Formats: sequence, structure tokens, C-alpha cells
Amino acid sequence: MNLAQVETTAVGTTFLNPTAHFNKGADRYDQGCEKVKWLAPTLLVHKLQQFIDLKVTPLHVLDLGTGTAAVATAIIGINPEAEITGVDSSVRMLEKALEKNVLRQGICGDLEDFNGLKLPRNHFNLIVASGVFDFIRKTPQLSEGIVGALAKPGGIFAFTYEPAGNANPGVNTLQHDSEGLKNMFRRRGAVILADEPVPHIWENYKNNNPVTNHILIGRAP
Ligand SMILES: C[S@@+](CC[C@H](N)C(=O)[O-])C[C@H]1O[C@@H](n2cnc3c(N)ncnc32)[C@H](O)[C@@H]1O
Repeated sequence: MNLAQVETTAVGTTFLNPTAHFNKGADRYDQGCEKVKWLAPTLLVHKLQQFIDLKVTPLHVLDLGTGTAAVATAIIGINPEAEITGVDSSVRMLEKALEKNVLRQGICGDLEDFNGLKLPRNHFNLIVASGVFDFIRKTPQLSEGIVGALAKPGGIFAFTYEPAGNANPGVNTLQHDSEGLKNMFRRRGAVILADEPVPHIWENYKNNNPVTNHILIGRAP
């Protein structure tokens, strides 16, 4: 495998315009999560506690693709003082997130245009993204941004992704090559702490089959 192949890890199809899709479905998103048994936020936060004490203060968290703030809500349940910034390209999802009163700040921005995001540099102890890499093609830019620009030295990052060749795939989600993804972070000096399959992270609404995702956790240099 050459470098170009490693950098181009996305395979499969996704919504042509995820922002429009989530704007349209924002009012029904939380109900939809219950229906498909969306466990990613809970499982991600549970797994994270092996690697970071979520009760420390100050805890500066960046929730990428915050949606309706499911991850932020779980973190605030553990540490009500956590200072969480949520980013999402869908203004309607962000409005729903802000209604939950768990975010210190909500920023409408596109993760595919990392340089356009107005975020503090080297500030975050923890950067999370639950169910978001499913829609991201520019993973090299985003991984560079997470470990090279946003995380504090030694900060933790954690996200779910669907692995390439997944035997239990979701619907309209991109898949990413596991080694390619981990190498993107390693090349930037990060350490991968965990990359584990989670066999029943939600249920495919077309065939009711359980969907497998990985949870990847790493530490910035
Ligand atoms: C499946 S939802 C996950 C929401 C939440 N993190 C959760 O676990 O419930 C994906 C979210 O990512 C957002 N998203 C997708 N592509 C994005 C992009 N390029 N930039 C910013 N947000 C994006 C969508 O608007 C949506 O809110």
C-alpha cells in the first residue's frame, strides 16, 4: 500500500449533503436514535473512562459533530463542570443541542473545511466524535487538526468509525481503513491507546441487523 492509498481511506457511499440531511431530520433525531438503539455516545464515554478522568477540572471538551449533544449530555452527567464546545455543520442539530443546556458554546462549522473552523488552539483535554467519521472524507486534514492544532499536549481524542469491509454495515455511512486511519494519527506523533470493534453499536434500519463500529482512542503528542 502506498501513501496515496493510505490517505484515501474512505470507501462506500454517504449522503451527498449530510448537512441538509441532518437539518431536515433534526426534530426527529432523538426519537430515531431510540428506534435504532444508537449506543455510540454511551459506549464511547464509558470506554473513555479507562483513559481519562472525566471528573477533573477544568475539563475542556470538543464534541465534533455534536448533533443533539448526546455525548456532551453523558459527560455532563459525570462532570457537571465540564466546559464543552460542540461543533456541527447543521444549524438545526446545533439548535437542538443548545436546548439541552450542556454546551458552553455551539459553533456551526464544516469539519471538511478544518482551516475555516474558529476554534482555540492547543486547548482541549478531550476531543470526541460519535457517529461523525461516517460522513468525513477529508480524514487526513481532520486528524492533523485534532492532534496538531486543537488538542492540548497529551490530550485524549476518541471517536467511532465504521471499518472498511465491515461485515455488519450501516446505511449511507463511509467506511475507513483501520490501519490507514491509525497511521494518520501516528504520523503526527499521537499514540493509539485502543481501537476495538463494538459489535452492536446501532441497528441498521433497512434490515434490522446490528451494525459494527470501532471505537478508536488516542493521545496527542
Ligand atoms: C449521526 S450524527 C451524530 C450526532 C452525535 N454525535 C451523536 O452521537 O448522537 C452525525 C452528526 O455529524 C454532523 N456532521 C456530518 N458531517 C459534518 C461535517 N462535515 N461537519 C460538521 N458536522 C458534520 C451531522 O450534522 C450530525 O449532527
